[in-house]
Amino acid sequence: MNICMVGAGYVGLVTGACLAEKGHSVICVDVNAAVIEKLKSGVVPIYEPGLEEIARRCSAEGRLRFTCDIAEGLRDAEVCFIAVGTPSGDGGGTELKYVYAAADSVGALLSHDCAVVVKSTVPVGTCYSVLDRIESGIASRGSFARAEIISNPEFLKEGSAVNDFFDPDRVVIGAENENSREIMSGLYSSFVPPERMIFMDIASAEITKYACNAMLALRISFINEIALLCDVAGADVLAVKAGMATDPRIGGHFLNAGCGYGGSCFPKDIQALDQTGRVLGLEMKMALATSLVNERQKLVLGNMIVERFGKNLKGLGAAVLGLSFKPETDDMRYAPSIPLINTLTRLGADVTVFDPVVRDASGILPPSVKYASGVPETLAGADAAILVTEWDDFKHLDWDVLGMSMKRRILFDGRNVCDPGKMERAGFEYYCIGRGRTVNVGRP
Ligand SMILES: NC(=O)c1ccc[n+]([C@@H]2O[C@H](COP(=O)([O-])OP(=O)(O)OC[C@H]3O[C@@H](n4cnc5c(N)ncnc54)[C@H](O)[C@@H]3O)[C@@H](O)[C@H]2O)c1
Repeated sequence: MNICMVGAGYVGLVTGACLAEKGHSVICVDVNAAVIEKLKSGVVPIYEPGLEEIARRCSAEGRLRFTCDIAEGLRDAEVCFIAVGTPSGDGGGTELKYVYAAADSVGALLSHDCAVVVKSTVPVGTCYSVLDRIESGIASRGSFARAEIISNPEFLKEGSAVNDFFDPDRVVIGAENENSREIMSGLYSSFVPPERMIFMDIASAEITKYACNAMLALRISFINEIALLCDVAGADVLAVKAGMATDPRIGGHFLNAGCGYGGSCFPKDIQALDQTGRVLGLEMKMALATSLVNERQKLVLGNMIVERFGKNLKGLGAAVLGLSFKPETDDMRYAPSIPLINTLTRLGADVTVFDPVVRDASGILPPSVKYASGVPETLAGADAAILVTEWDDFKHLDWDVLGMSMKRRILFDGRNVCDPGKMERAGFEYYCIGRGRTVNVGRP
């Protein structure tokens, strides 16, 4: 099939490249000329394991092209995906201007029948507004082109997006006529078994995406709240988790206590769900609570550090390990590292950071932050290490050796990746989440 992918960010690029890998002819359109130039020259501007290889191969074989010109993208398109960003707008609602701009361009240019598939995460009712805009654009030109609208929300996880595309748990499709269902089956049936293709009406598909993200975020906030209780009660959240996760009705997914969730999806989607409820006259109490608990959790590491060192951190060498909101991605949107580093800098600490993939975040973090090229350089001379992202590289560090170069052996482990016994043996003062705060006050 000929596919136009509007938006070449995480979702558009992964989906476009993977559909090309499956033999479709895909043209990715983006308004960001710098992104398109990079892609044309074979450089994938985001970090996503396996993506660059696929993009290069499909480009070389002519099945994947890039342009800033949506007219070129739409010329032969049988299916046009809209995969542009839907960030939080004023008041916590969803900013739909990028989706609507894409819809208006399609309405202004489409001259043949085409299925328009909304991949962006959008509040219930948006797909119909997109169709209205496209149809009025077509009608205003006196064209007889017909567009049909389909909702196909995306569930990829950054860091495993390519695998998620080729082996999805499920593909959710909101389609309201047989032709739409056939088109989507044609796109997916070669690699998604029928029982994993879930067809429904458009409104239900739109809500399904928010419901999934809200449920996952809710589990994180739930265990984080239990972790706070463990701290004050002197219990161990990992033991509690083990006891919970073995109940098959509960399971262990998304029950890791930490320093809060971030990323481009959970925070904004929870807010959007809350806002959608408000617009429709329904208070979304769970969404609100999930978000409030997370905001509190993002402060936990900073509060521990202040409790330990006081409010004046002038001259304190703070070594931050991990910037991205989770491992295997360079995405720092709403990452817990940001408010933490802002607080440390504001209180006077000298902050050095290291992330295996994010090597420079100078547009996001305060200018005084120093960027190290590895863990040893980050920790050298530091008064305290603060682990914020659970990259694999950080799970097996030899703290005994690393501690030798630190000024003081103190670790704030925001993801509970270290073994308290080992840290004790390495002489560390070790703070973690929901495990009784200080496991050991080691040698000074
Ligand atoms: N990132 C994820 O993990 C993820 C997962 C599932 C769903 N989603 C949803 O998918 C959507 C896209 O997210 P993303 O992370 O890929 O966003 P992104 O910001 O990485 O990419 C969006 C791209 O769209 C481009 N764009 C904006 N307006 C355009 C227009 N009119 N024409 C062409 N291009 C335009 C931007 O320049 C940008 O490159 C959002 O609704 C998001 O909530 C994201």
